[in-house]
Amino acid sequence: MKILGIESSCDETAAAIVEDGRRVLSNEIASQVEIHARYGGVVPEVASRQHILSVIPVIQKAMEDAKAGWDDIDGIAVTVGPGLAGSLLVGASVAKALAAVKGLPLVGVNHLEAHIYANWLGETEPVFPLLCLIVSGGHSDLVLMRGHGEYTLLGRTRDDAAGEAFDKAARILGLGYPGGPAIDKAAENGNPCIDLPHSWIKGTADFSFSGVKTYLQKLSEEGKIDKDNVADLAASFQKAVVDVLAGKTIEAALQNDVRQILLSGGVAANRMLRRVITEKSHVPVLIPKPVFCTDNAAMVASCGYFRQKAGKTSPLDVDVIPGLKMS
Ligand code: KG4
Ligand code: ZN
Repeated sequence: MKILGIESSCDETAAAIVEDGRRVLSNEIASQVEIHARYGGVVPEVASRQHILSVIPVIQKAMEDAKAGWDDIDGIAVTVGPGLAGSLLVGASVAKALAAVKGLPLVGVNHLEAHIYANWLGETEPVFPLLCLIVSGGHSDLVLMRGHGEYTLLGRTRDDAAGEAFDKAARILGLGYPGGPAIDKAAENGNPCIDLPHSWIKGTADFSFSGVKTYLQKLSEEGKIDKDNVADLAASFQKAVVDVLAGKTIEAALQNDVRQILLSGGVAANRMLRRVITEKSHVPVLIPKPVFCTDNAAMVASCGYFRQKAGKTSPLDVDVIPGLKMS
């Protein structure tokens, strides 16, 4: 079964075709990162206008790369939230129109759930029960998954998301946007020798990252950040975040007796996080290829496949919900 996935929740316009939820036949992504970089973050109005320009060419390219005609497609999956309202509407409107015209089933997909399904695109198939750490620009969630579509939220951030913390820290350190890759790179030349606050909230799987960011902000205001210590600060910040993410994830994996740990979301592209969690875990750790960690439509198509197979398709008037929670 071949599913066309469409993703436009933030600043990437993406389309992909995935067979049976696991085999990626095409994966097209038009990134707006350079457009938003000059503002230091995503400008929602600019993002939605850009999606309108990109969405049709991106879908056409995904169809071409997969050598697929409309008769080959069995369903259309599209992100319906959470995300930026105007951006979500572009992908969802196109998906609805295509589903109506081509007579195909439509599946509205939760963006965070889709991030988890990026793990079905790898060599090893995930096995239940599993624990997934979703770390993106807007979320840091620890989710227990006992089967397809069966989620229990164990922990979440109480303030900044991990990716948001990376982006803000990079801005304070003058490393540019997007901050995650910039800190990952700067940390290569630094030592994690500066003891930054690690916020470990006892007795819960919740996270908090605003403290370490505020600490950097204070150093900056006191004029204590310069070109000689910026790489060490980047490495130390990265360590402070990774230590907590890996520690809380492994603790929750032990408590819930899971068979695997899955990483997902943009921050899962972070090289230190990938290494530390793999080294420390007592169970196998699955991590998508970096291109499937950050926003893409292959993960949406994979998630849509499993939903459609379970009979969970959506009506053509499915709503887009910017603050959609995972159910
Ligand atoms: O999942 P994603 O592409 O979009 C959202 O759903 O938010 O995640 C984007 C986030 C950004 O905050 C970005 O800085 C972060 O992922 N990110 C990274 C890395 N690559 C992307 N953070 C740390 N290290 C990286 N290598
Ligand atoms: Zn995302």
